Amino acid sequence: MKNQQTKIRTSDFVQDPYSFYDNIRSTNPIYKGNFFRYPGWYVTGYEEANLILKDIRFQNRIPLPETTKKYEVLKNVQKQMMLYKNQPDHNRLRKIVSERFTPRALEQLIPIIKETANGLFCHVANQKRMNVISDFAFPLASLVIANMLGVPKQEKDQFRQWALTLIQTIDHTRSKESLAKGNDTTLEMIQYFQQLIQKRKQDPQDDLISLLLSDNQNGEPLTDAEIISTCILLVIAGHETTVNLIANSVYCFLTHPTQYDKLQANPLLLDSAIQEILRYESPTQMTARIAAEDLTINQTEIKKGDHVYLLIGAANRDPKKFINANSLDITRSPNPHLSFGSGIHFCLGATLAKIEAQAAIQTILEHTQKIKFETTEIEWRNLVGFRALKELPIIFE
Ligand code: HEM
Repeated sequence: MKNQQTKIRTSDFVQDPYSFYDNIRSTNPIYKGNFFRYPGWYVTGYEEANLILKDIRFQNRIPLPETTKKYEVLKNVQKQMMLYKNQPDHNRLRKIVSERFTPRALEQLIPIIKETANGLFCHVANQKRMNVISDFAFPLASLVIANMLGVPKQEKDQFRQWALTLIQTIDHTRSKESLAKGNDTTLEMIQYFQQLIQKRKQDPQDDLISLLLSDNQNGEPLTDAEIISTCILLVIAGHETTVNLIANSVYCFLTHPTQYDKLQANPLLLDSAIQEILRYESPTQMTARIAAEDLTINQTEIKKGDHVYLLIGAANRDPKKFINANSLDITRSPNPHLSFGSGIHFCLGATLAKIEAQAAIQTILEHTQKIKFETTEIEWRNLVGFRALKELPIIFE
């Protein structure tokens, strides 16, 4: 196999990650590279990515080096997150949190989510314009996650900055400055959730924090540190990706007007449209694993300790798996995209994210006849592992 050390600039990559993916996939779907100064195996093939995600011998790990002495606060919090845990710890944590993410539990949230999306839209309806991210998607995701965790509504505004800062610390583009800022933000979040936990210990409510504090019938109860890390994980996971799914959906409709016409003519296509946008502009573009032993995947030998980067956005456009992979088709079926991952770490919030995105897009469909970009200068954020627009101002009729 070729083992090239291709140099790539973040700005070029962010403009068009898909040509880069196609390029390395055509050389090898498991490509040995050193992109953005992270040496490892870059997986762009669908079959290969799915095999690795499902194989627990490829372990999850915190994004910071274990040996780092700096950013201790951030590192210690990451270490307690289910996302970076392996079995059996992962199972213990996930099981107890899962109770609030069952389809039945989430169904009860649908009316409140729809009402919130509607209320946010009514706020901007008269001005006939909105920034999809800051006026609509972010407040919607914030209110939903605040409601779940039991955070008072008026305190949820700090979530945005927290989520924006912490996402930088897990991306390939992270700098020393962003890590230092992330470390400080984590400390702030720990203090915030510590206080909330104390309140819930004294006065339990019907919220996730109270549930996590209650006795775990099936195993060891969670420690306060585990509960805090879980809250921090949910604030990051519950915001960034969901906001991006909503914004990327509107962006796709604006850049593919015939697909939007199809959806307007047949709103029953909404679920399928969201699935296709998840595939086409996946909010999470990359996740990582480390090989726990020497392994062979489709004839590629991966050594114990090697880092493996799974390019979800690339796997989702693998032409071996998807017909016309680089085209957006809201009627695509089946659509087995990997945007929520696969295997034991499959996204816990997948159903919630889809409910939120459906409520958001349905609200836009119901209240508008036409939507347009307000500006021609739409930019992607400088992130490699996430597909996120900076802002999305639109006008509507
Ligand atoms: C469009 C929105 C979302 C996308 C694209 C997304 C994507 C992902 C992906 C790819 C993973 C697996 C990462 C890996 O295997 O390394 C994951 C895990 C996770 N997600 Fe999401 N996510 C979304 C929304 C949410 C929401 C709304 C929540 C919760 C409020 C959430 C909570 C989680 C948690 C807790 C995990 C870790 C699960 C585990 O380790 O067992 N996600 N997500």
